[in-house]
Amino acid sequence: MRKASSIELTRRALDLVEHGDTTRSDDIYMSPVESYICPEWLAQEKAILFKEYPLLVAFSCDLPNAGDFITNDDVGVPLLVIRDKKGQINAFFNTCQHRGSKLVTGCGRAQGGLICPYHAWNYEFDGELKVIPDAVSFPGVNKAERSLKSLPVVEKYGMIWVCPTPGKTFDIDAQLGGLSSGMVDDLKAYEFQNYHPYAQRRMHRKMNWKLLLDTFLEPYHFAPLHATTVGPLVHHNMCLLDTYGQNLREAVIRKSIDKLADEPEDNWDFPLHSALVYMLFPNAGLIMQRDHVELWRSYPVADKPDECIVQMDYYIPEPAETQSAKDHWERNMDLAVNTVIKEDIPGVEGIQVGLSSGALTHSTFGRCEPALIHFQREIAKSIGRA
Ligand code: FES
Ligand SMILES: [Fe+2]
Repeated sequence: MRKASSIELTRRALDLVEHGDTTRSDDIYMSPVESYICPEWLAQEKAILFKEYPLLVAFSCDLPNAGDFITNDDVGVPLLVIRDKKGQINAFFNTCQHRGSKLVTGCGRAQGGLICPYHAWNYEFDGELKVIPDAVSFPGVNKAERSLKSLPVVEKYGMIWVCPTPGKTFDIDAQLGGLSSGMVDDLKAYEFQNYHPYAQRRMHRKMNWKLLLDTFLEPYHFAPLHATTVGPLVHHNMCLLDTYGQNLREAVIRKSIDKLADEPEDNWDFPLHSALVYMLFPNAGLIMQRDHVELWRSYPVADKPDECIVQMDYYIPEPAETQSAKDHWERNMDLAVNTVIKEDIPGVEGIQVGLSSGALTHSTFGRCEPALIHFQREIAKSIGRA
């Protein structure tokens, strides 16, 4: 984070601490329960948010070398993202142009081309078909016309976005709120291309996909829900919020910030005394902790509004090469990630049961939950249900 932003955020946070206050929206927001339980609502979200928007699918450091690939079966099409020999990132349907077999599964490094496991058609990492075994049996099949079907992809700020609709173009800076927005400034300054993937967790949960993000977007639940984990470390019900188009940055303030009031501004390092949540619309939450970053994404499952796939990717600034480094990161993950997996997620799964029960027509978001209001309002607007 740039020094000027760090100082500005620290000043705003100290002001909240001094007044025992938080950032508040103008009014409460009544969020219709339909948003979490209605199959038609979900169908619209899938058709618009998961079809027309750029989705954050990886960090550049997940695919540092030629042939490195990831796949993703959660975005509505079988997706393959791979780095080619020129260093360019490509996104394709993970689908062989012979008869449609899946080319690769999971993630890894392809050697000697992308070789289809079914009949061994062999593609370059840039999607070009280079070998058809027994080519004589395919008269008239022009290899130049059988490249892998590509999808729009952009790599920037150490991150990779894909839009799962062929031919669609997107301007990622505009989507992030504009080139001169604080969001772009922050993402640039973090230099995620220099991070290292450390761990990944994937789970199928019984909750609407938005509930994962909801739980990151208000610290009103910190003291009650996280009483024995992260709750004691942060100022309860206190946040800073900045919005950038449909995206936002919310900062939760650690109590350790209090002592900065007596220190010169030069020592003010805001990320050390906060947890910064970047909501990258529509489905990614980036959590900058003091020493690492977590990327949380969620995806709807089929046509079920009350189920989702959650994926968490944990990135660290230096590779964990020694046993003591590994022990350190395991302990670190234990607090940060387990708090979400053992407290937040079960909490919102309980909310899903409540919302599905018919006991209420609306969720009431309080004025102290402005980030949550921004997110839900932008979702509703984007599918024409504002
Ligand atoms: S389906 Fe891929 S080579 Fe036949
Ligand atoms: Fe939480």
